[in-house]
Amino acid sequence: MKIARSLDDLKNCLQSDGFAGYRLALVPTMGALHDGHLSLTRVARKHAERVCATIFVNPKQFGPNEDFETYPRTEQDDLEKLAEAGVDLVYIPAPGDMYPPGFATRIDVGPIAEPLDGASRPGFFSGVATVVTKLFTRIKPDVAVFGEKDYQQLLVIRRLNDDLDLGVDVIGAPIIREADGLAMSSRNRYLSPPERRIAGELNQIMRKACHRIRGGVSVPAALIQGMQEMDAVGLRPVDYFELRSGTDLSLLPERELRASELEDARLFAAVMLGKTRLIDNMAVSEA
Ligand code: PAJ
Repeated sequence: MKIARSLDDLKNCLQSDGFAGYRLALVPTMGALHDGHLSLTRVARKHAERVCATIFVNPKQFGPNEDFETYPRTEQDDLEKLAEAGVDLVYIPAPGDMYPPGFATRIDVGPIAEPLDGASRPGFFSGVATVVTKLFTRIKPDVAVFGEKDYQQLLVIRRLNDDLDLGVDVIGAPIIREADGLAMSSRNRYLSPPERRIAGELNQIMRKACHRIRGGVSVPAALIQGMQEMDAVGLRPVDYFELRSGTDLSLLPERELRASELEDARLFAAVMLGKTRLIDNMAVSEA
């Protein structure tokens, strides 16, 4: 497995015999890797002959009161996992390599980046879009894989890729979960043991809400019941708990849903548990 730490290293590597002319898949990450990330490398492998992962804790996507400084950095362990997963190249740029002095451009992806995490975390999707555009233009992958764990991020990147003619085949990969349903996340390591037990409830409560909606319970009633259940187990405050279109994130009507609306409906949640923010989402039809 090759490791590139500067843009020059990266270019040399991509132009070398091992990479030039091969179909290339990209898996961008911020490190602190878990099985969710590694599943993306396996999806990537199915679509390309070479797989490049990136590790970069992107300062531009963290708000002033967020966890940029304390975000887990576990490079050695990450490299071992990526090598074991058969990744061919890892790009680990330094912050100054990605954003040299004078760097000023930000990318605004428009309405798809406005609700949900866009509303709760101002500047977050602009930071994501900026770094992903740079990774696409530096690495020029044929394919890039993103997890549905960050479903809105996946839609933002599809929009960005289409609008700016980046020409990458953007592929979504399913959410990988712990045995109790908790979506794997680098931030789960912040949870204390009692919090970790409570965290698993989020997925159970969301699944119950989806079942109720499928069973004909009105959307507001199902959402209110779900929020009461979250409050009762200590999942609070709730940042959002909303049913939206999985295609364009538009809000769904509050009456009983028609079959075509149910097919596209997705439940999105973000909730605090102590100092940790948990997010999850699921298609109502699959819950
Ligand atoms: P990060 O949170 O490290 O996630 C990297 C990729 O792994 C994303 O595509 C994310 O959706 C996916 N992922 C994380 N947990 C997952 C899980 N449990 N199941 C499936 N996929 C999962 O997302 C980012 O980094 C950054 O915003 C990034 C795209 C790298 C830009 O900085």
